[in-house]
Order: sequence, then structure tokens, then C-alpha cells
Amino acid sequence: GAPVTVNVDKIEPGQQITVEWRGKPVWIIRRNDEMLENIEKLTPRVKDPESTAASQQPEYISGTFRSLKPEFIVLVGICTHLGCVPTYRPEVAPADLGDEWLGGLFCPCHGSKFDLSGRVFAGQPAPLNLEVPPYRFDNDATMTIG
Ligand code: FES
Repeated sequence: GAPVTVNVDKIEPGQQITVEWRGKPVWIIRRNDEMLENIEKLTPRVKDPESTAASQQPEYISGTFRSLKPEFIVLVGICTHLGCVPTYRPEVAPADLGDEWLGGLFCPCHGSKFDLSGRVFAGQPAPLNLEVPPYRFDNDATMTIG
């Protein structure tokens, strides 16, 4: 599939957009400061904090934020369990999903919860963190996926 160039400077902090790449939904989320703090807080609660379990990200991506710039996370929107599309649930600690969760991505099929770096919580059915596709920034306003 062809690379996809996306204008990201109109994405508001806290907002998520979906683009299609190779027939898959790819999410770009612009994380605000509170979201980044919550990711740090949740690091002890996720299965694979540094995403070392599988090649779920390009080699130039590492760390808890899993991104080239902390404010933008790019994720393939397909659950690593059985392939459903998770939902964007950025609100902090929805009561029905448990107090320990600080918001992120929720798979409606079997209830897997992910943080806003796409890292799966311990005890969830999804085995792996969500995939980060290859991407680069062309300049401050645009990125290219693929
Ligand atoms: Fe997402 Fe099963 S497909 S939890």
C-alpha cells in the first residue's frame, strides 16, 4: 500500500483521528499533558511496558510514549487479541470499567483495556501492545505513515 500523508496540526490536544493505511484503521491521537502523566503512572500496570514482547513497533520507536514526539501517538486500530477495532475512551476512570483505569482504548469484543500508548493492561485477553506503524514527520504540520 502507498504511504499516507496526514495533516496533524489541526488535531486538538486530546483528539483522535482515524486514517486508512493498507486497508487498516490507523489512529493518530494528540496527547495532552494529563494523558502523558497518566501513561507514566500506568507503566507498572501494563503487561509489556517497553513493548519488547514482539516487533509491534519500528526500531526507532521506544520507551513508554512509543512515539517520535510525545504528543502524537500513531497506532494501528486493531486489537491484538482477535482483531476487533477498539474504541477511543480518553475519559479518566469510567466507573463501569474499573477505577484503576485512567482512560485509553477499550476493545468491546472481550474487554481488553489499553493505555494511551496502546499498551495492554495486565490481566487482559489481548496478548500484545497495539502496533505502531512506520511513520515520519515531514515537518511540524504533517506526517507520513508507511
Ligand atoms: Fe479485542 Fe478480544 S478482540 S479483546
